[in-house]
Amino acid sequence: MYWLGLDIGTGGSRALLVDAQGKQTAAFTAPHEEILMRQPLWAEQRPENWWDAAQTAIRGALAEARIGGEQVRGVALSGQMHGSVLLDESDRVIRPALIWCDQRSQPQVDFIHAKIGRDKVVAAIANPVLTGFTLPKLLWVRDHEPRNFERVRKLLLPKDYIRFELTGEFATEVSDASGTALLDVLNRRWSRTMLDGLGLDAAILPPVYESTEVTGRISARAAELTGLAEGTPVAGGGGDQAASAVGNGIVEQGIVSCTLGSSGVVFAHMDEVGYDPQGRVHTFCHAVPGKWHVMGVTQGAGLSLQWLRNQLAPGTSYDALTAEAATAPAGSQGLFWLPYLMGERTPHLDAEARGGWIGLTARHTRADLIRAVIEGVSFSQKDCLDIIEELGVAVSRVRASGGGARSPLWRQILADVFAKPVASLETQEGSAYGAALLAMVGTGEYASVPEVCRAVIHETDCLQPRQAESTMYAQAHKVYQSLYPALRGVFAVK
Ligand code: XUL
Repeated sequence: MYWLGLDIGTGGSRALLVDAQGKQTAAFTAPHEEILMRQPLWAEQRPENWWDAAQTAIRGALAEARIGGEQVRGVALSGQMHGSVLLDESDRVIRPALIWCDQRSQPQVDFIHAKIGRDKVVAAIANPVLTGFTLPKLLWVRDHEPRNFERVRKLLLPKDYIRFELTGEFATEVSDASGTALLDVLNRRWSRTMLDGLGLDAAILPPVYESTEVTGRISARAAELTGLAEGTPVAGGGGDQAASAVGNGIVEQGIVSCTLGSSGVVFAHMDEVGYDPQGRVHTFCHAVPGKWHVMGVTQGAGLSLQWLRNQLAPGTSYDALTAEAATAPAGSQGLFWLPYLMGERTPHLDAEARGGWIGLTARHTRADLIRAVIEGVSFSQKDCLDIIEELGVAVSRVRASGGGARSPLWRQILADVFAKPVASLETQEGSAYGAALLAMVGTGEYASVPEVCRAVIHETDCLQPRQAESTMYAQAHKVYQSLYPALRGVFAVK
């Protein structure tokens, strides 16, 4: 028997099959169309294109595994968070979805905070509203496309639109719903404060489930289109970060993950909910029933190194770059990198923050420049970790994943900067794998999310922090932290 995880990402949809031991047996990715960027700050995608890609991905994975749909016992979804899929009374898509990185809605964010009161908003949804979240996107449509807004009968998240196509059911689950700015994250239900405060009709929102609950079954039509069997249960799943955390085993207190992709995310499980009144980290419901997570985001993590490579060492491999960085001394001879190439979320929440090297002298080499970038991103991830620890989350070790964590040098620098052991995992699959594990729990193959994670997720190596380097980095981190406040005024000058 097999279980299917289906991740509706930004670049593509990925279907991944696991067997009863939680071992990946096949995976197939179907790419999405380019993001539509019709104006600066706008980012849209067509939900119909996701559905086409999802069908291709499912058929591709079944073919690769050489199995029929009747051998799949359950499905769960994960997906890019925050996007706004708007359906009319005939369940047709009204306009392309505004996706997570669309930044046009600052006036709507300001309106929400003014109308309800920022403190009341944070108390209602455990976070301030950010331009990335779904609610201000809906209000942008209300303000700028009133005819489209009048036709809205359902507001769905990206993966939940695919759920609707697969099962005919409107449903979401708590982890993804947390990123709408409409969920009462503490009580895991839609927020009356937000809905009533803004005069929105609760009927446009789907019922909200826990991530392991079955939300519907594959319809006859979807069975024909995908090759899955009619009646196959579809469990809730999770937003991409929560699902990926399940795939990394971040489902119990103590272990956190650090995922170095284009952005860098420090993610921690919380048994008891806690949130940062300043909103520097996001507090969302976890895909583990009744639990929460907190995450801090560095916008320009792997992106910093990619930028350096493309601009200063085109054609050089990342392995060659990190090998060069290893020849520079720890601390890069007093050189610092601010990774704010795309503004910053944690800890500054400042879209206008700007990046740069500070402290250059004629003595510095290219090796120092590269090493400083790796160290600067690591300091920024340490900022995330510090806030998470301030919220009372005890952190005994960090699991590193994502492209940046493939470098042993970067993992050692993380261990030294964090002053914590940093481990790697056998399976490096992210969200689609976590979704497949949620499908296993949803169909009763395992009793709980922590149980399946304990059974199937294994650490490989674990790097220990080195005393001398850790002491030096603790000092350097203080200097790094003093740079943004000193430069903030300069960044704001246009
Ligand atoms: C989470 C976030 C991203 C998107 C796209 O807050 O913005 O993880 O879900 O991957």
